[in-house]
Amino acid sequence: MVPNRTDKAIEFLLHAIDSFDRRILVISPDYEILAANAAAIEDGSRDLIGRSCYEVFAHSSEPCPDCPADEVMRTGKVSLRYNQLYDSGGSEKMMCLFAYPIFDQGEIKALVMLDFDLTSLKEIEEKQHQSNAFLRNLLNSAVDAIIASDPSGRILIFNEAAEQILGYTRNEALNEISIRDVYPGNGAREVMQMLLSEAYGGCGKLKSYHINARQKNGDIVPISLNASIVYDADGNKLATIGFFHDRRDEIRMQKELENTQVQLLQSEKMASLGKMAAGVAHQLNNPLSGIILYAKLVMEEYNLPDGAMEDLERVLDDAQRAKETVKELLEFARQTNQEMKPQDVNEIVSRTVFLLENQSIFYNIEIKKEFGDNLPPINGDAQQLNHVFMNLILNAADAMGGTGTLTIKTGYLSEPHAVLIEVADTGEGIREEVLPHIFEPFYTTKEQGKGTGLGLSMVYGILESHGGTIRAESTVGKGTRFFIELPAIKTLSEDEKIG
Ligand SMILES: Nc1ncnc2c1ncn2[C@@H]1O[C@H](COP(=O)(O)OP(=O)(O)OP(=O)(O)O)[C@@H](O)[C@H]1O
Ligand SMILES: [Mg+2]
Repeated sequence: MVPNRTDKAIEFLLHAIDSFDRRILVISPDYEILAANAAAIEDGSRDLIGRSCYEVFAHSSEPCPDCPADEVMRTGKVSLRYNQLYDSGGSEKMMCLFAYPIFDQGEIKALVMLDFDLTSLKEIEEKQHQSNAFLRNLLNSAVDAIIASDPSGRILIFNEAAEQILGYTRNEALNEISIRDVYPGNGAREVMQMLLSEAYGGCGKLKSYHINARQKNGDIVPISLNASIVYDADGNKLATIGFFHDRRDEIRMQKELENTQVQLLQSEKMASLGKMAAGVAHQLNNPLSGIILYAKLVMEEYNLPDGAMEDLERVLDDAQRAKETVKELLEFARQTNQEMKPQDVNEIVSRTVFLLENQSIFYNIEIKKEFGDNLPPINGDAQQLNHVFMNLILNAADAMGGTGTLTIKTGYLSEPHAVLIEVADTGEGIREEVLPHIFEPFYTTKEQGKGTGLGLSMVYGILESHGGTIRAESTVGKGTRFFIELPAIKTLSEDEKIG
């Protein structure tokens, strides 16, 4: 129905149509231009009326193949066509043609054709595409996992770091799991509660919160989480976004640092104990030598009664024992002369075992030798290394009370190039509070007269002077293992192999 209009209204309507910057054409069912607005007329002088639209606009002698007019005629409905190439003054543009029918008493009297320039729309789309690609790039180049989820827990963003840290592909994360699967237990709820609490980085924000994440295979990854809730302009919750920082490297480094600190403290303590021990040993060395010398002189030069002779022998024995102790102290403090030569560790250990195995304390001890083949030589003093193994083996025998299994293993470690020796017993073990002290001089748990507490301190001193290390692991009631590492001389090559 055509509304009744005043002349003024008709005038305004025409103005409105002419002010519209897109072309409006009214054509007859057989493509004749019946009317056109100012934009279609362009320079205002083009004589369009009565001519066919394809001739004017497509410079063609027949209707354009994808013209929507046919469809509108057929269906009587609106038609919209995209991507139509429309030649306007020589330049091709991406156009959208919108056509609709004008009915008169139930019949299509004419068609209105409106065109829209899609070029600018395409440009916007292109720009949007570029900015999307840039955003995707940004997300994927992040070191931390970035995961966003909607209020129902559906995952919306899952970047490459998230794939690496959690083991899901982006597709799996977006389609198969929810944010609740990313945390063990009630982690997701815990994060939400924290996000809503003022105490953690302000309401809606969570800063450096330590929590565990769960990988696809169920493994746990410690993370530091920065998260926030994303709201729309009206304050409605749209999503939650989290930046997951993998803390595994950090924790590993922290542990290494702590270990190094403990080792540093230990070696500092040993060094000062060594100095003190060396000082005491030096002070005792000369008077002890005097006692031994004069006791021997008196025994040789005087015709003493038997009782006095026995007493003097005891003086001599005790003085010699004291001198041995002094020697061990000096060895711990590395004040004795070393004779360093290439040595075969297997040979040294075998010699020590040979010296000890026939002693009564070893009668009920099974000695297992598990020696590695082709060990590279180490640079060392055979006698001192003998002392090392003797002390370890005697301690093991003490700990086993004469019954058990002593296992001595040797092997090669390529990084660092070194020989490893493990001395393990099935003895009583070492209590946790005792373990940090066993290498200190004079530290002993043995009853008075049974141990001086110098054995392991001497072992420690000798190994240190060989550039080696020693450490112990122990389980009370099960036994103790000592691990020794001695730097090897050369890399293993055919002609240098021993044995
Ligand atoms: N294999 C072992 N099993 C259990 N405890 C051990 C073992 N080796 C050492 N220990 C503990 O370490 C302490 C110190 O050992 P260390 O060899 O230095 O001194 P000691 O054996 O007591 O005396 P000595 O000077 O006669 O060797 C021991 O008293 C003991 O408590
Ligand atoms: Mg000992």
